[in-house]
Amino acid sequence: MDLLRKKDLSLIISGKYASPLKKELKTFDLTMLGIGAIIGTGIFVLTGTGALTAGPGLMISFVIAALACLFASLCYAEFASLVPISGSAYTYSYTTLGEIIAFIIGWDLMLEYLLSATTVSVGWSGYFQSLLEGLGIHIPTVLSAAPGSLAHGAVSYFNLPAALIILLITALISMGVRETKRVNNVMVIIKIAVVLLFIIVAVRYVKPANWTPLLPFGFKGVFAAAASVFFAFIGFDAISSSAEETVNPSKTLPKAMLLALGICTLLYVIVTAIMTGVVHYPMFANFIDRPVSAVLKMSGQNWMAGIVDLGAILGMTTVMLVMLYGQTRITFSMARDGLMPKFFGNVNPKTGTPFKATWLFGSISAILAGFVPLTTLAELVNIGTLTAFVLVSYSVLRLRKTQPDLKRVFKTPLVPFVPIMSILFCLFLIFNLNPLTWVRFVVWLIIGMIVYFGYSRKHSKVGIEELTKNVYKVKDDVNRKL
Ligand code: ALA
Repeated sequence: MDLLRKKDLSLIISGKYASPLKKELKTFDLTMLGIGAIIGTGIFVLTGTGALTAGPGLMISFVIAALACLFASLCYAEFASLVPISGSAYTYSYTTLGEIIAFIIGWDLMLEYLLSATTVSVGWSGYFQSLLEGLGIHIPTVLSAAPGSLAHGAVSYFNLPAALIILLITALISMGVRETKRVNNVMVIIKIAVVLLFIIVAVRYVKPANWTPLLPFGFKGVFAAAASVFFAFIGFDAISSSAEETVNPSKTLPKAMLLALGICTLLYVIVTAIMTGVVHYPMFANFIDRPVSAVLKMSGQNWMAGIVDLGAILGMTTVMLVMLYGQTRITFSMARDGLMPKFFGNVNPKTGTPFKATWLFGSISAILAGFVPLTTLAELVNIGTLTAFVLVSYSVLRLRKTQPDLKRVFKTPLVPFVPIMSILFCLFLIFNLNPLTWVRFVVWLIIGMIVYFGYSRKHSKVGIEELTKNVYKVKDDVNRKL
């Protein structure tokens, strides 16, 4: 069936898809890129709501979400080492499951990257404004938040800081990957330092009594929080979308992905244990937007709280950077395959980046950031990503059966156990999300199907190649008969 036509894996492996993108990234850069994408709103903002949902059991929620990511990342790594070109899960599934599934994954990833950058920019704006207020500078209320998102009936029309930060990052990304890499590495180092500082300072104020009861809302609370804080781990998959700009991607990608995930999991579990150990969980209701720095304030460490605020601002900046970067690379790959208009695949010869597409997505994201209250959209990002993880894990199982002899530089261990666990964990987390999120996600998929059947199917390069082959075959048959 031509809905399931596949991209030829052997062509990709043989290097036929020579890339116009510059190769600049090594293991260290990629790990930094991963951590840059991972540590952000999830730990700095969502832990407040998480503590109210799960109590001190929030640390278990983080472990559950991390396990889902660990299993999924082992599957991702096998594919990343096998298909080291841009497009991540999208490209993997194009070679194994077929075009329509690949399109759905690509469409999912667009949702993941674009909306997570936007969601994070709103969190960033909150931290930034509070930092400015500390310096006595106030942004006019009407420009401080999206319409309808302020409490107590205050009127606002536009979230100016959120929109501006997105445009600033867009400018940076559009200049080229080397510049992006430099800025990113510096900011990630600061971000890790701030998290470590928090751990060292706050651990002295832990009162073990705050950890009892450990599960005030039972496992139900723990699971619900796990589905929500899964957002904190999103981003490690973004590493794989930069395969074409990586030196020796087959080895570098899996290594960097696992390293980034491991480091972040360790930091998250320690930070949440300390947070709920210093402050009794119901108190988080009082400072839901800035729970991490609030923990320090409650311990009388105002100075340190300010530093954490600053670290959070930088931390979230790198998340937006990687997400917007991933977004343009996904559409770049889809455009190259003819599934999206050519416009998205144009690379500017000077910068070596998809310049115009970067600005288009940056502008969309900035508009959304300015006008839409995005708190619930974190869940939408989660469901899109979890669905992509399920499909990638299934692809690993499938390809082991259909093409067992392919040279896999990195092999997912314990197959089929690991891919099956990945699928089960991800489905479990999807199940624990708000049903309204399922509905919104289905609407997004329906729009995707309209694009696929209206445009992509007719312009698909794989489809056109198949058609050409068939025409030649018919001509040959006719000639033979004559
Ligand atoms: N993992 C990223 C964050 O927490 C998306 O901000």
